Amino acid sequence: MRDQTQAKQDSSRGWNPNQYLRFSDHRLRPAIELLARIPLESPKLIFDLGCGTGNVTRIIAQRWHSAQVYGLDNSTEMLQKAQQQAGTIHCIEADIENWTPDEAPDLIFSNAALHWVERHQDLFPRLAKFVSPGGCLAVQMPLSWDATSHLLMRATLADGGAGGRPLGTETLRQSVARRWVGDADFYYDLLADDARSVDIWETEYLHELEGKDPILEWVKGTGLRPILNGLADDEREVFLAKYRCRLREAYPVRANGCTLYPFRRLFIVAML
Ligand SMILES: C[S@@+](CC[C@H](N)C(=O)[O-])C[C@H]1O[C@@H](n2cnc3c(N)ncnc32)[C@H](O)[C@@H]1O
Repeated sequence: MRDQTQAKQDSSRGWNPNQYLRFSDHRLRPAIELLARIPLESPKLIFDLGCGTGNVTRIIAQRWHSAQVYGLDNSTEMLQKAQQQAGTIHCIEADIENWTPDEAPDLIFSNAALHWVERHQDLFPRLAKFVSPGGCLAVQMPLSWDATSHLLMRATLADGGAGGRPLGTETLRQSVARRWVGDADFYYDLLADDARSVDIWETEYLHELEGKDPILEWVKGTGLRPILNGLADDEREVFLAKYRCRLREAYPVRANGCTLYPFRRLFIVAML
């Protein structure tokens, strides 16, 4: 039990805003594409769940400048960064799992955050019920569980130690093996009964990344954090050396020096 609590804490702590923002232009594009599909004219109350550094929250506030816009996150580090240039947005430190709004929001928005929260079968209907009639729940989540980069993460945990032995604890390996996002039809079934319409789609981006080991640097800012936080110092170095080699082999540098990173994402716009 203690192990499970520890694994959960490891996945929620240690967000590094600067590491995350290294690929901010690539990470921003899905958020903009999600925003473009929200057909609300003038929502009055908006929450951005898992707002991180507030980059997207500020764009939301620019689009609907008369709305009250709140960015909510449970990472002190990310919120500190968000508050450095908060502008008109308000920041709240809270956990999405326990959050209940005082008033019904017209828009609940979440970009690249809800995959960190478990039990989507409860979470999505609960969030949809919070939204005011005529309002919208808009979510984007990565479909990276079976991406080569993430398969290699888990494979390296399983056999990266001396003599092909596993690294880390059984609990850590189990916690990173959790399939964090379901299929599109799973979310459709969760939302369709209460919604007036549910628009769901997937996009695979082909990110053209520059620099040395860019995919390793990308995942260090997000999906690799629970592993790096969960391993002891000596094991972390062993893990990183092996994982880096495997990534280099799986994603070769192109003739022009760039590395291509295919990345699928799921988008949901439910009108309530
Ligand atoms: C990948 S970042 C995305 C940040 C922002 N939405 C963006 O698009 O730039 C994920 C964010 O979700 C937050 N997060 C993860 N689990 C959370 C939870 N249970 N409650 C609140 N925030 C959470 C993390 O702290 C992190 O800032």
